[in-house]
Amino acid sequence: MTLDNNIIQAALDKTTISSNPTVNDEQMDALFYKPTRDADIIAPFGPTIGYFKLSSSFVDSINTYVSKDLPDFSGDVVGKVNQELRWTDEMSNLLLNEIKNFTFNYVDSSLQRASYNTVKLDLSQMNYKLDVQSAWFVRQYETEYNPIHVHNGMYSCVGYLKLPEGIEKEWEKEAHSNKTSTHGHIAFYHNYGQNGDFIIRPSVGDFYIFPANLSHCVYPFYTKGERRSFSANLTFLPQPKE
Ligand SMILES: [Fe+2]
Repeated sequence: MTLDNNIIQAALDKTTISSNPTVNDEQMDALFYKPTRDADIIAPFGPTIGYFKLSSSFVDSINTYVSKDLPDFSGDVVGKVNQELRWTDEMSNLLLNEIKNFTFNYVDSSLQRASYNTVKLDLSQMNYKLDVQSAWFVRQYETEYNPIHVHNGMYSCVGYLKLPEGIEKEWEKEAHSNKTSTHGHIAFYHNYGQNGDFIIRPSVGDFYIFPANLSHCVYPFYTKGERRSFSANLTFLPQPKE
């Protein structure tokens, strides 16, 4: 999908996303990340992560596809989970429409941060094309997990669609242990050591985009039921204007 530069410019004019992102104390309680607005660029370590709140209409429509007869994707990915199902082009197009403006902001902000503000996307000279290379559902049930891994390609993303009923009680109990929260959480790792991990508690509608080569894993949980997410590998490529 080629992005519409006028719409992107209008979105950029409105944005309050910082081009020098960090993570502030309000967003981290030392246990896991808590989003504080609808879209954000986060830099807990070198690589940049983007946070975006998906619309409830997108979450509802994507959830309707899970019962359809989708092809098994588990041979292509590492998860030790019940079911991984490949998305159709129709579903990928719904995703592109939902995330295209934010993805432009994320890539622009990441480039500026990585280049000390010397490189940015140029709407006057270029068009930008965002595509889904692959996308799939991850249906994870109690005791299942996703070992540490990276993805192929440029950018990857994850979005949360469903959580087991009552998992908050498991989290409350875990909080009392005074140890890092991990049950059913995704953790990103970069040069593991001081400030090398970044843990995110899933919440329905939350979406994160990150560089494909950023290591991550999903820890098991023990509440009965389904933790449903999707992942996608994305390309974002410039094309000179004709
Ligand atoms: Fe992954």
